[in-house]
Amino acid sequence: MSFDTQIDRRGTHCVKWDSMETLYGVSPDEGIAMWVADMEFQPPQCVKDAIQKMSDHGIYGYFGDDSAYRAAIQWWMKTRHNWALDTDHIFTTHGLVNGTAMCVDAFTAPGDGIVLFTPVYHAFAKVIKAAGREVVECELVNTNGRYEMDFDAYDAKMTGNETMLILCSPHNPGGRVWSKGELQAVAAFAKRHDLILVSDEIHHDLVYSGNTHIPMANLSGIEDRLVMMTATTKTFNIAGSHSGNVIIADPDLRARFAARMAALGLSPNSFGLFMATAAYSPEGAAWVDELVNYLDTNRKIFDAGINAIPGLSSMRMESTYLAWVDFSGTGMSRQEFTDRTQNAAKIAANHGPTFGTGGEDFLRFNIAAPRAVVEDAVARMQAAFSDLQ
Ligand SMILES: Cc1ncc(COP(=O)(O)O)c(C=O)c1O
Repeated sequence: MSFDTQIDRRGTHCVKWDSMETLYGVSPDEGIAMWVADMEFQPPQCVKDAIQKMSDHGIYGYFGDDSAYRAAIQWWMKTRHNWALDTDHIFTTHGLVNGTAMCVDAFTAPGDGIVLFTPVYHAFAKVIKAAGREVVECELVNTNGRYEMDFDAYDAKMTGNETMLILCSPHNPGGRVWSKGELQAVAAFAKRHDLILVSDEIHHDLVYSGNTHIPMANLSGIEDRLVMMTATTKTFNIAGSHSGNVIIADPDLRARFAARMAALGLSPNSFGLFMATAAYSPEGAAWVDELVNYLDTNRKIFDAGINAIPGLSSMRMESTYLAWVDFSGTGMSRQEFTDRTQNAAKIAANHGPTFGTGGEDFLRFNIAAPRAVVEDAVARMQAAFSDLQ
C-alpha cells in the first residue's frame, strides 16, 4: 500500500470522521477530518498479517507468555532510541491515557497539584481533573514560533502542593523535540520540587531529520522518580488496539504501580500485544522510516501553504504529524478564524484552548493523510482566508 492511497473511513465507527459533524459541524461528505491524532494510513503488512493470523486461528482466548512482546519492546528501544531497558520494568496498560490515569492514581492523592507545560495534549488535564487532582499550568514561551521553557517563572508558581509533573516529549502540540539541556532542566525542576516525573514519549518515533529524540530514561540521576510511557499506537496507526507501555526502573515506584494494576484487575488485550510484537520488527522499522519521509514532505507542503497566508503561522514541527497553527496575526477573533476553517474551508481541526493556556489563538491540524488531501486542505485554507492575501 502506498501512503498516497485514499481510504474511506466514513461509516466505520471512526471517531475522526464519524463524529466530526456532531463536534465541528463539518459534514464528512464534503469536509476533511484533521483533528484526532490518528493517521489515514494502513499499518505495515507485518501488523496486518499478525491480525490476519489471529483472525484465521479463530479462537480469541486469554493471552499468555508475553516474553516475545517484552523482547520486541526492548529491541525497539535499543535499536531505535539507544535506550537499554529491563523487560521486567514494563507494564502494559490500555493505552497511554489509561497509563497517565494509572500514574495519577498510583502516585498522587486527591487535591495534589500536577504540573503540565501548556499548551499540551488535552487528555492529561482531563484525567487529572477527573481524578480530583489539580492541574498546575506552567505556560511554554512561544519564542519566534518555537516553544521554550521558563523555569524561573515555573519555580515561582510552585506552592509545595505539587507531587507530579507530566512531560510530553516530543511535544504535542507544537512538535518540539526537547534538547538534552532542556530535558536536564526538566529533571532538575522535578528534583527541586520533589515531583514524580512522568514522561509521555508516544510520539518518539515520528521525528524529522536534523532532530534527535532523547529518552528521559537516558539521563542520569532521575531514575528514582521517573516513569516512562511509550506505545506502538501513534507510530503504527493502531490506536484502536488500546495498548501502551509504562516502564519504571525504580523498585518502589514499580511496586506501587503494580499494586494499583492488581487492585483494578487490569490485564492487557491480546490483539494489542500481537500487533505491537509484529510492529516492533525490522519490517516495522523500515515502514516507519518511509512514513517519516512521507510526513516530512507533507509537513513542508502544509507549512509553506499555510505560512503563505498573511497572519497565519504554522509552528515548525520537529516531530509529530500535528501542525499547530497560530492565527493571532490575522487580528480575527477566535470565533471568526474557527468559523472560516470549519464553515468555509470545511476542515475539522482541534480548537487550541482545549490544550490549555497558551492555545487560545491556535488550531491543530493533523497532516498524516495522503498528499492530495493535505494539498486540498491547504488550498481550502487559502481560499477561506483569501481576503488576507
Ligand atoms: C502525548 C499523547 N499521549 C497519549 C495519547 C493517546 O494515547 P492512547 O491512545 O494510548 O490512550 C496521545 C494521542 O494523541 C498523545 O498525543
